[in-house]
Amino acid sequence: MIWAVANANVALVKYWGRAPGDDHQPAGTSLSLTLDGLVSGARVEERPDAGADHVAWVPPGPVGDLRRFVALARGRLGIERPVDVLITSNFPVAAGLASSASAYAALTTALAALATDIPSADRLAAIARRGSGSACRSLLGGFVQWRPGEEAGAVTQIAPPEHWPLAVLAAVTDNGPKRVPSREGMRRTRDTSPYFDAWLRVGAADLDAARAAVRSRDLHALGTAAERNALRMHAAALGADPPLLYWEATTVAVIREVWRLREDGTPAYFTIDAGPQVKVLCEPADSPRVERALADVPGVVRILRSRPGGPPRTLREPPAWAVHATLGAPPVGEEA
Ligand code: PMV
Repeated sequence: MIWAVANANVALVKYWGRAPGDDHQPAGTSLSLTLDGLVSGARVEERPDAGADHVAWVPPGPVGDLRRFVALARGRLGIERPVDVLITSNFPVAAGLASSASAYAALTTALAALATDIPSADRLAAIARRGSGSACRSLLGGFVQWRPGEEAGAVTQIAPPEHWPLAVLAAVTDNGPKRVPSREGMRRTRDTSPYFDAWLRVGAADLDAARAAVRSRDLHALGTAAERNALRMHAAALGADPPLLYWEATTVAVIREVWRLREDGTPAYFTIDAGPQVKVLCEPADSPRVERALADVPGVVRILRSRPGGPPRTLREPPAWAVHATLGAPPVGEEA
């Protein structure tokens, strides 16, 4: 039995739209920060006597997607025996906090440990993105770029986590699952939003600005590029038919609070993925003040603290926070 754990990541320049074709290639280049402490764990065990793979999420999640992914990954990694898979996370799942990224990065890492040959990083990235596009970015730590194309180095680290000790606060505004999964949201935006082409065009400039800001550790430049890019992604999504509105009233209240903090002299910047939660970047020294301000916004349920994190790891035992999930999991042989 093998466990792997992987951190979530937050996109500073978003992946929102696939290229045509069915290989889950992104339409544009994205840039993320791997988030320490927002972790998913995957337990994988070979089951030589079982007739088929058994998969489970704790709490329950989309097992059909998981089963298809396991079949694909086993095929690509040459794992012949059926496997038993359990996935769990230490933070709210399916609510725009990138739990699918950490989950599929952890699972890819655990399955790779069962492969007879050691797969290259490029091959692992190509597998992980089939589970969730952003999962390929969680295979690396720190600041990570993912660009379209099959050639080597599509997913690269542009700076390690220790390059820039930023604080990241996730304001959870809603613990429920998101309304429209990102896969469907992207498809709908690409197929129906008149702003999709414009979104792809401006992404390149946001990426250049964000990369330069990471290199020079310029929080204002990075934060404004990330905010701009997130708002543009959501603008494109709002233009879809039917429209995609991922925000709640509290989401907007948190945006306004971040802007108020800035007007009052505290550099803090937000980004929002395909859900109502808001992630805020700031200097570690300002983090307690920013956290208090965010926690005081009516409707904010909790604040998760993070900072730049590292790559996945394999373990022989479950991480302490995952032990309860293993106790409640369905026994091998039963469907989740
Ligand atoms: O990785 P997916 O397919 O769940 O899509 C991720 C989409 C966003 O989180 C909104 C943006 C991103 O780049 O992570």
